[in-house]
Amino acid sequence: MSNYPERAAQLMRRIEALAAISEEPGVVTRTFGTPAFLQGRALVQQWMQQASLDVRVDSIGNLRARLRSPRPGAQTFVIGSHIDTVVNAGKFDGPLGVLLGLDLLEQLAACGTELPFHLELLAFSDEEGVRFHTTYLGSKVVTGAFEPELLQRTDAAGITLAEAIRTMGGDPAQLAADALPATEWLGYFEAHIEQGPVLWERQVPVALVTAIAGQRRVELTFRGMAGHAGTVPMDMRQDALAGAAEFVLLAERFAREHGRSLVATVGKLHLPHSASNVIPGEVVGSLDLRSPDEAELAAAYQQLQAQTEALCQRRGLTLHWQPVQQTAPVACCTEMNSLLGQAIAAAGHEVIGLVSGAGHDAVPISQVAPATMLFVRCYRGISHNPLENVEPADLAAALQVAEQFLALLLTQPQPR
Ligand code: GLV
Ligand code: MN
Ligand code: MN
Repeated sequence: MSNYPERAAQLMRRIEALAAISEEPGVVTRTFGTPAFLQGRALVQQWMQQASLDVRVDSIGNLRARLRSPRPGAQTFVIGSHIDTVVNAGKFDGPLGVLLGLDLLEQLAACGTELPFHLELLAFSDEEGVRFHTTYLGSKVVTGAFEPELLQRTDAAGITLAEAIRTMGGDPAQLAADALPATEWLGYFEAHIEQGPVLWERQVPVALVTAIAGQRRVELTFRGMAGHAGTVPMDMRQDALAGAAEFVLLAERFAREHGRSLVATVGKLHLPHSASNVIPGEVVGSLDLRSPDEAELAAAYQQLQAQTEALCQRRGLTLHWQPVQQTAPVACCTEMNSLLGQAIAAAGHEVIGLVSGAGHDAVPISQVAPATMLFVRCYRGISHNPLENVEPADLAAALQVAEQFLALLLTQPQPR
């Protein structure tokens, strides 16, 4: 094996080719189930088929490619990440992990290596949760944690998730059948860009992930009274946008006062029926709150909700606080991290363990299988931004470490 620079160059070409497929020209946007998403997935599927992998699309739209073990009763080790993106995304968040995994399986297939366990490469269809405002649709199906009530969620056009699945050619009634039973899981590995600045600052190409922060997402509706911008005196207004603005600054101040472990983001504000000469009567916004410490996260969530209710009361607004997502912090598997640490050291790099503030498919998977993640340095830690970038040398380093990790895994004693 080896020849990492050449393989990194091919990996980069594939990342670029996938990034060229987008809902909007000139930017990278491929949200779950859109024509661009399907076109991008078809390209990845074609690469998987060319690598002689056994490929199928499951009912939530995940691409699943297998290398089978001849061993009776063999378990399955999954390598994966996602191929959906945020809006105006970078090229590497998700595709790096899928296409790095493809390279690893391609090498094994080409060598005809006899495996002690099945290897499955997963290109998850929805990790970002942009379209239906809920994350991990793809990995929840694979772990059997998909909640059927999600099928009634609607996107901005009023299309339900159930309808979106059918439009993609899937069958919502088959979702449970696509889960890999808990007894079949041997483990999970995901390579991903760090999306933070630590590796960039420390000038190290890769790190292992020790834990992933928990998160809570809320949809908030501030309701006041729409009115004439020229006639309603300032002290008689119930301006929903002024209330939402106060909430944005409250959330920022609140998280800053907690120190570095808690982060709060208001990423969306929508003003229905807005006009420059109308006092805003309604604002719909989002809150994304994260911490690696569940107790801190739970307490912060309650305090922030209470303070937001108080500010709305003071301003004569009503508040609708609708929780839309909750995931607890998770720890990566220490045994697998020890193998990954050995692989990092063998490649001559300092072994650094990081907590991920970003969510990953490893979160739902860690509920059914030992999970480990490899972070790859990205330019100044920038992500969810078109400036996202990874140097080819760092892709080569990640390939080398991931391949060594897999080699160590392949030589571990297997359960009978
Ligand atoms: C996924 O990118 C997240 O929001 O953490
Ligand atoms: Mn992302
Ligand atoms: Mn991601």
